Amino acid sequence: MKSRLSRSRTALVVLLMLAPLAALLSTAEEEPITLDPRLEWFVDGKLGIFIHWGLYAVNGIPESWSFFNGQISYEDYMKQKPGFTAERYDPKAWAALFKEAGARYAVLTSKHHDGFALWPTELSDLDVMATPAKRDLLQPYADALRAEGLKVGFYFSHLDWSHPDYASVRTKGMSTDFDGNRFAYPAPGTPDDPDSWERFLVFHRGQIKELSDRYRPDLFWFDGDWERDEEQWDMKGLRKDLLSWQPTTILNGRMKEYGDYETPEQGLPIFPPEGPWEFCMTINDSWGYQVQDHNHKPVRQIIRTFAEIVGGGGNLLLDVGPYADGSLQPEQVDRLKGLGRWTKKHAEAIYGTRRGLPFGHFYGPTALAKDRQTLYLYVFDIPRDAIAVKGVRNEIDEVYVVGSGQTLAWKRSGGAPWKNIPGILLVDVPEAALDDDVTVVGIRLKGPLDLYHGSGGAIEAN
Ligand code: GLC
Repeated sequence: MKSRLSRSRTALVVLLMLAPLAALLSTAEEEPITLDPRLEWFVDGKLGIFIHWGLYAVNGIPESWSFFNGQISYEDYMKQKPGFTAERYDPKAWAALFKEAGARYAVLTSKHHDGFALWPTELSDLDVMATPAKRDLLQPYADALRAEGLKVGFYFSHLDWSHPDYASVRTKGMSTDFDGNRFAYPAPGTPDDPDSWERFLVFHRGQIKELSDRYRPDLFWFDGDWERDEEQWDMKGLRKDLLSWQPTTILNGRMKEYGDYETPEQGLPIFPPEGPWEFCMTINDSWGYQVQDHNHKPVRQIIRTFAEIVGGGGNLLLDVGPYADGSLQPEQVDRLKGLGRWTKKHAEAIYGTRRGLPFGHFYGPTALAKDRQTLYLYVFDIPRDAIAVKGVRNEIDEVYVVGSGQTLAWKRSGGAPWKNIPGILLVDVPEAALDDDVTVVGIRLKGPLDLYHGSGGAIEAN
């Protein structure tokens, strides 16, 4: 006969075996269990800084689009070259500031749609060597980030509105009468020129290989895949090449389905994408520095957006637009520092977390620790009464304020525990415990989160 102890051990083993299944069943919305290990640092990292820096900063006009959309002639756009000095470029200061903000990586525009490269490329004359900056700007950036323990990302535009071979073909199926933008497509009536396109692809791959070989970026942030189709770009082949050159590199999603994660832009997703994702957003209304744009978002708004993103299991890629001399706009520096105050205090509720409760359980974003045993509630406003979490079946170990560790009083109200329908969890958050921007309440659960999703019904056994 089995002893009580060995019987309960057997029960424990069975329970442990079933636990992952239980977790899977309890919340359909949870993070896919098979996260590619290559992406782990990225999904854990939560915050990156995007940097749009190029010729456009000289006049303070829209990056590349200003000539594409006819706001300035191509010739005048290129006349910005002598103004691109980089004389106050201090990548170490950038890296220190990004770290202070709480970022774990940064993404710099190595080349935007205008084709201007921030590194001395062997493959074109349109690069930093044609400006007074006259030196490689990418290596010191990569070195400075790595010295601060940050990962290195490069933005690279597939399309190149300066390259003579680029506007040589139309997207498959377009008629030769198609009257598209001259920088993107052949003039109407002109036939496609597949040889030029092949040459362009060799150039495109060549520049990407330069970046990969020279700087070993941890992340490639592609953009501008929309003027050709997947076959024309051979994105599948590009992915294969990139991963063969450097197997650990992460690729963003602007590769016609051949990337690793989704990249929603400017408008916060209402329903977070399912897999890994990163929301990119400007601090004011522009990616690069623009003279007239002083519409910088308040720190609190940025923090709230960030909290929503973390709660949805995503990352924020927050954009700055340095001046042509390489210094950062002071309003943007202030925002990064303000964000840093909050990320430092709430680090445990940000980094390494996974998406939180589905809609309906809490009025506000929530996140879960990786082991699913701590739930984080992001409290935006001053509560008039206890804050409420619905549907948590677990027993509770402790409820506390993240950052100070102050324990909070809580109780459960209602429910039908004998039917496994939990009561509402009510937590008192005294005003003195509130953060100026977003307060985070931690709930340590006994065991991994076990959620009730039901719609209820008559309780027939009381
Ligand atoms: C858009 C724009 C580009 C900007 C990018 C950032 O794709 O074309 O100017 O760099 O968004 O996500």
